[in-house]
Order: sequence, then structure tokens, then C-alpha cells
Amino acid sequence: MTNNMFFIANWKMFGDFRSVNSIKKVIKFSRSKKFQKAQIIYCPPYTLINNFIKLVKNTKIKIGAQNCHYSQRPGPFTGSISANLIKSIGANYVIIGHSENREAGETNKLINLKIKSALNSGLKVIFCIGETFKEKRKKVTRQVLNKQIKLGLNKIKNKKDVLIAYEPVWSIGTGLIPKPNDLFNTINFIKQINKKFKVLYGGSVNPENIKKLKLINNIDGFLIGGASQNPNKFIDIIKKTYN
Ligand code: PGA
Repeated sequence: MTNNMFFIANWKMFGDFRSVNSIKKVIKFSRSKKFQKAQIIYCPPYTLINNFIKLVKNTKIKIGAQNCHYSQRPGPFTGSISANLIKSIGANYVIIGHSENREAGETNKLINLKIKSALNSGLKVIFCIGETFKEKRKKVTRQVLNKQIKLGLNKIKNKKDVLIAYEPVWSIGTGLIPKPNDLFNTINFIKQINKKFKVLYGGSVNPENIKKLKLINNIDGFLIGGASQNPNKFIDIIKKTYN
């Protein structure tokens, strides 16, 4: 485990204006000296980004969106949000390529365009990759990840602003996590593709399994869905990572 770890809260399509207050506990926690090395990033729905940005002012917590349109320029794209718009309200990150969006039809090519647009807008990218259960069973995980990375980052030079989030599709929201040894090897495989990659793990991270996950010493942080909506669980995950 490296000391500077990322803890990214992916709220998905959860949370209304009342849930904004839940970050206050986390803000208080983030001020404690002991956890200064934890980089906390909140990715709420678009509708809450502005509220969150106001609350985290003067803290080290950063805010991100969960997706963006591929077009950097304004245009006739009803219902879409560009990376430029996200950046303009003060967010710093965007999640791209989440498997829930890949399942809804997002291709590697589209993901590549979105990543380019996000980087050009000055956002940092949380780039999600991961194999399905069927692919795992067929033992083609490495081929799948390699393809997702190669196509997703095609012709992108500036990779330092890209964090890779390895999220096996079968572990998202299921309570299942990979075997420690498998996870260690997969993360190593991703880091061999580019030694500079920071690689996070995502998929059913919770206050119980974090004790196992934190022992895998090549992980640079966690992308946390369900458990991040509860500030106590989210804080617990961070505390246990360092304790
Ligand atoms: P989960 O979601 O922690 O609820 O499994 C993770 C994610 O989809 O990013």
C-alpha cells in the first residue's frame, strides 16, 4: 500500500439535496492530521456538484462528475454535459468508462473521445476498466483490460492525469471481491502496460473487506459506490486503510 491513497466516492444516481449534508462529517474527518495523505474525491450526480463544491471550499476534498459528453464545445446535445461545463463550475475530476455506461452502449472509441475531451478541458480522469464474469471464466481478463486501456487511451500522450480504476464488473454491487492474489497480479499487469499508472480498485469495497484489500500493496486507492453514500462507512474505510 502506498501512503498517498485515493478514496473516490461514486454516488451513481443516488442522493438528493438532503444528502449533501452527509459530506460535512467527512470534511471534519479530512482535517485530522493522521489522514492527511488520503485524497478524497466525491463524485455526486450532476445536480449536486455545485452544492458540494461550495462545501469543500478550503478543504483538500476534490469534486468530480460521473460522466461527460465527448464534445468539448457547446452544441445541440440535449441532456448532456460537457467536460468544459464540469470544469467551469470548479470540479476537478470525471469518471469515464464505468461499466454501467459501457453496458448501456458506451464503446471504447467513445470512451477515448470522452477522455480526450476531459483532459483538454483540464479535468483529471478516473478511467474505469474491468472484465465481466463471463470473460473471467473464459480466462481472458488480461486481453480485455489490455484492449480497454489501449483503445481508451489511444493517441493520448498526457497520461499523468489519468487514474485507472480496475473494477471487475462481477464485483460491482455484488459483495464479491477478487481473491487477493488475483487482484495483486491484475494490478501488476495494468502497471506493466505503463509504469506510471496509478491503479485503484473498485467493486463492493466496504468497511469489512477493506482489511483484506489494504494488504494488497500495489493498489493506489479505491473507487467506492454503495458504501460511500454512508459517511460513517466511508470514513471507516479510510481509517481502516491506514490503521
Ligand atoms: P460498489 O460500486 O462499491 O457499490 O460495488 C463501485 C462502482 O461501481 O464504482
